[in-house]
Order: sequence, then structure tokens, then C-alpha cells
Amino acid sequence: MLFCKKEENCLIFMGLACLCKQYILQSRSEKGRQMRKLLIAGNWKMNGTQDSVSSLLGGLIEKCTSTDVDWLVCHSFLYLAEARAALKGTVVALGAQNVCDQESGAFTGEVSPNMLKEAGCTHVIVGHSERRHVYKESNELVSARFFSALDHALVPILCVGETLDQREADQTLDIVFAQIDAVLKVLPAGDVREWVLAYEPVWAIGTGKTATPEQAQQVHDAIRKKLQEHDAQMAESVRILYGGSVKPSNATELFAMADIDGALVGGASLSSDDFSDLAR
Ligand code: 13P
Repeated sequence: MLFCKKEENCLIFMGLACLCKQYILQSRSEKGRQMRKLLIAGNWKMNGTQDSVSSLLGGLIEKCTSTDVDWLVCHSFLYLAEARAALKGTVVALGAQNVCDQESGAFTGEVSPNMLKEAGCTHVIVGHSERRHVYKESNELVSARFFSALDHALVPILCVGETLDQREADQTLDIVFAQIDAVLKVLPAGDVREWVLAYEPVWAIGTGKTATPEQAQQVHDAIRKKLQEHDAQMAESVRILYGGSVKPSNATELFAMADIDGALVGGASLSSDDFSDLAR
């Protein structure tokens, strides 16, 4: 196609503007990415026996030694004491899978943030999809659990994600944003305390169906932009993990995405070989 001189200049200008914008966006996300070390977190859910937990811990201690990534395993409450003793002096941190929104009192079956700290936890998962869907925890309750952790110097890992029906009805971002808003409306901009977000599409959990790296990145990017609207500094520092059938064979591609800062891993965290291979 032939262009006159004026049109040609205009096209060159538009091309340059586009390249500049791409460069700025790329260097911004690379800078953010450098700030955010990959976090590989295992969620053991309600699995294991005394014996299998001991041997899994032994494998982790031997194989999860790289300091290029941060390691975390979230145990059942019952095995926290044993895990704490086993992980002492290693690079693997200890977390729990839920925390009470109250400090103490008549809350049968719950575990308080101070109890988790005493048991050696540094992190705790809140709002996992199994809590939201099987045990009907609302966005408000999850938010209260989140602040219970944060206010007691535990790092909360806020899980968000849509069901298959919601994805097919094009509601992914509405659902995920509502889950995040329940926290952001209470969390002041400028709050520098550490917390982590985990995007776990419900349809990808334990099903073997992983979101493609591009599908995951799309949602992570939207989440990062949402955090940016709230607080630019927070958006750069909060790690956004992906969860849902992550295994060694798909981790490399997922971790190559600009806004995927690690993984929350279920099934593959129950094998010390698979779990440690995620860092390769
Ligand atoms: P899977 O890795 O087994 O799909 O589980 C993901 C998960 O729920 C982590 O919290």
C-alpha cells in the first residue's frame, strides 16, 4: 500500500509511541518482578498420616534448599509442632491453612492467630476455595480472617478465584474483584505490611486442568492493575501466586509470566520430588 509523506510520518510516529509504551510497561513490570522473589507454597490440605508427614518433611529438608525462591508449606493444624521441629534451620517456612477471626474465647473448632504464631507459623492461607465453597465462608468472614492474621504479624495468603460457571458467564473479574474488595476496603493505602494473593480458578483445582499461562496472566494483570488503583507501591510488592494443578511440567511457562510471582500448590506439594522440582 502506498502512503503520502504525511501519512508515512504519522505511521512512524505511532509506531514509535507504541514501542515506547511497550518499553515503559515492560521495564515497569520487570522492575516489580525483580522486587518480588518467587514464592513456592505447598498446601497439604487434609492429607497424610503421622508417618507420611514425617517422610515428606524429610524429603523437603533434603531437596528444597535453593535460596533463589522462597519456600513455604501449609500444614494441617495437627502436624504444625512436628513440622516446626523438622523445618528448624531450613529455608522452608511454615504456614497454616486457616485462622480464626477472633483472638480467643468460645469458638469451638477454630485456631487463633496467637496459637499459630506460638506453633511457629509465619504465614496462613485465608479464603481458600474449599473454605468458600464447601464451608460457605463469605467474603466478609474471609476479610475478617485476613485482618486477624495481619494484625498479629502473620502473612495472610488471600485466595481468590471463580468457578467454571462464573468463567463461562464472563464473570471472572467481577467475582475476583469482589473477593479482593472485601479486603481493600478495610486496608488503608500506604499500609506496608506483607500479604500475598493467590489466584486459584476453582475449575483448575485438583482437576488436572491448568489455566493456560496466558489465561492466568490476564487475570493476574487485571489484579495488579486493581491493586495499583488502590496503592501503586502495594501493587509492586504484593506477590500474586497462581494455583490450580501446578506441577513441574507446567511451572516454567507459568512462572515466565510477568505477573505470576509463584504458585500455591496442592497435589504436587505432596511429593518432595515434584515440589522441589518446581524451583528448577
Ligand atoms: P492442586 O494443585 O491440587 O490443583 O490444588 C491447588 C490448591 O488448591 C492449592 O491451594
